[in-house]
Amino acid sequence: MSLISLASGYGNFLPASEVTSRVLNLLHVGRLPISPVEGLPTLRETLAANYHQQGGPPITPMNIVVTPGTKAALFALLCAVLHPGDEVLLPTPNWFGFWELIERAGGVIRELPLSIADDYALTPELLQAAMTPRTRVLLFTNPNNPTGRIYQRTEVEALLAVTRQHPQLFVLSDEIYDGICFDSEVVPSLLSFPDPNGQHLVVNGFSKSLTLLGWNVGYLVAPPAVARACAQQQFATGGAVAVPSQIAALAATEARPSITTTLRQQLLPNRQRLLDFLATLPGALPHAPGGTYYAFPDLRAFIAPDLAPAEASAQLMTKLKAAGVVVVDGATCGAPGFARLSYAVPAAELTEAIRRLAAVLQ
Ligand SMILES: Cc1ncc(COP(=O)(O)O)c(C=O)c1O
Repeated sequence: MSLISLASGYGNFLPASEVTSRVLNLLHVGRLPISPVEGLPTLRETLAANYHQQGGPPITPMNIVVTPGTKAALFALLCAVLHPGDEVLLPTPNWFGFWELIERAGGVIRELPLSIADDYALTPELLQAAMTPRTRVLLFTNPNNPTGRIYQRTEVEALLAVTRQHPQLFVLSDEIYDGICFDSEVVPSLLSFPDPNGQHLVVNGFSKSLTLLGWNVGYLVAPPAVARACAQQQFATGGAVAVPSQIAALAATEARPSITTTLRQQLLPNRQRLLDFLATLPGALPHAPGGTYYAFPDLRAFIAPDLAPAEASAQLMTKLKAAGVVVVDGATCGAPGFARLSYAVPAAELTEAIRRLAAVLQ
């Protein structure tokens, strides 16, 4: 039996035709333009104009650095703002990649566990109680990977009322899934809120909502001094993102409404298929994920009660793998006993994966 993987964070999407034709035209011309290290001005201007349309303080190209993927944008920002021993407050569950990024940037992780029982609400009270004098960054993902939870405008506003009282704090929002939302019109960008103290940092990319997997392009938005520090670091240690990838990112940004609409429509049948299955497991998924292409069911009812949570979680994942399905162990996201399942896979694979999972879990 060959394994089916629902573990990849990258979907099975093709780039939009607007993107491929633009890149092919560029390649036919032959000579590529030389990009400044912070990214092509046209791309940064287009990104800045898009944010401007959402309201909030003005964003200019000086706030933006194009990076080799979103991970690189996160790392650049963390390195720019953290001093050794500074704490990064990380609400959990959260994307497994953050742990190592924070450690390598010299930060100390402080987890802020949120509960599935109240749909992972992150309240101002919880946030205030978790802050210490060493907290330098609140790292926030909207929509959240792995839960798919979307934090709505009023919720973010309430959190920012707290963060504004701590001007030494940066709020870093990872918005890479912002085009994949099913239960609201838009995901509120952190950049659409007032930022009187210059605390707001945003990263985003093109490999999820804009289907450019493999093009390795992302960007960061920050106050000019922080953006400059990130660009200088990129210049000293690497270079500008490859121009074909930047042109692909530009074309995808311009075609964003149609790309994200098509993607959501493509994902809907699989989403329904997986949610219907998870509804058959009592209590596993009390709230449907509002965004992303993941579901993060609570499988704690299926783990060995006598083992340590991480060990019991790993044991369940091994059991699912033995049944033919690979998933992400929730323990790597700060939630042992949960599993992240991606439904951005071919429909036939998902159907077979569900059949196999049902054999273990039903
Ligand atoms: C929340 C989050 N941030 C960042 C990344 C990394 O994105 P990129 O491929 O653009 O480096 C991922 C990839 O899975 C992710 O889920």
